[in-house]
Amino acid sequence: MTGVIHASNLTKVFGSNTAVDHISFDVSQGEIFGFLGPNGAGKTTTTRMLTGVIPLDTGIATILGHDIRSEPVLAKQGFGVVPETSNAYTDLSAWQNLMLMGELYGLPRARAEQRSSDLLGMLGLLERKDQKVQAYSKGMKQRLILAIALLHEPKLLFLDEPTSGLDVQSTQMILSLLRDLNQQGTTIFLTTHNMEEANRLCHRVGIIRSGKLVAIDAPEKLKTAINRVHRIEVSFDREIPGDALAELGGVRGVSRTGDKWQITADNQDAAIRSLMTFGQQNGAAIVTLNTLAPSLDEVFLRLTREEKP
Ligand SMILES: Nc1ncnc2c1ncn2[C@@H]1O[C@H](COP(=O)(O)OP(=O)(O)OP(=O)(O)O)[C@@H](O)[C@H]1O
Ligand SMILES: [Mg+2]
Repeated sequence: MTGVIHASNLTKVFGSNTAVDHISFDVSQGEIFGFLGPNGAGKTTTTRMLTGVIPLDTGIATILGHDIRSEPVLAKQGFGVVPETSNAYTDLSAWQNLMLMGELYGLPRARAEQRSSDLLGMLGLLERKDQKVQAYSKGMKQRLILAIALLHEPKLLFLDEPTSGLDVQSTQMILSLLRDLNQQGTTIFLTTHNMEEANRLCHRVGIIRSGKLVAIDAPEKLKTAINRVHRIEVSFDREIPGDALAELGGVRGVSRTGDKWQITADNQDAAIRSLMTFGQQNGAAIVTLNTLAPSLDEVFLRLTREEKP
């Protein structure tokens, strides 16, 4: 996979406060990368540095192969941004905002009009396109900002809490568009507080605490990493000798509630494999098998609970 974002030793200091402290990571082409952290952890500051809104104090940020310091215009042509606070002109209509942005990106008028209609249609705003943005609800405004960010068909999209404070319908509309875009090859850098959203959407997440990156991995891997003892719940279609389960490879302990067996395992993969072999050898079919993983919420809390100011 090709590197789309390369961040090396990014640092930002405001007075005596080191908001972002030597952060390094890479995002590959086609990834949805989630950037998580408590309030004030440095997510927006990092996003602003990566998108060339504020200068880096130290470090290097290469976006789509262009150094954000020396080639900001080339980099910006390739990405779109949904910032933390709205960047739409409220005294203009949605349509006027989009046309203005089209001119800034140098899009031919016909192309800008076609693309704007498509995006407003997808985001449920076409009927309101001539209304001034000041009359828009929060959810409508956020959908418009997404349309503006996508106007020039960027290969990379940065979003800073795009669904914060939105209702289920607006949230779903935005998330489903992000999924579609990603399937068509758009790389996505997403800051969010919503763990469930990150868990379902992101290939990898980075967790930032007090300006430092404390973990970076696939959500499922982060969950297993904090949970050294794994829990598996299994049920078979017939009675089986429970004592035999305790002897299986990878299994640490066995207990029973109703028709389900609760297994604790040091090695989840080995235990699941032995359970399957055990079923086959004893002529018992597995009816249900669930791995009881911690949630991404638990991972987040575990990794960020210290040092909160
Ligand atoms: N322009 C600024 N001037 C001074 N301090 C700033 C500025 N911008 C951010 N900070 C400080 O930098 C730290 C990180 O802020 P940042 O906005 O990046 O956090 P965040 O992770 O985006 O938080 P939230 O989840 O609340 O959006 C905070 O301590 C904040 O007060
Ligand atoms: Mg922020």
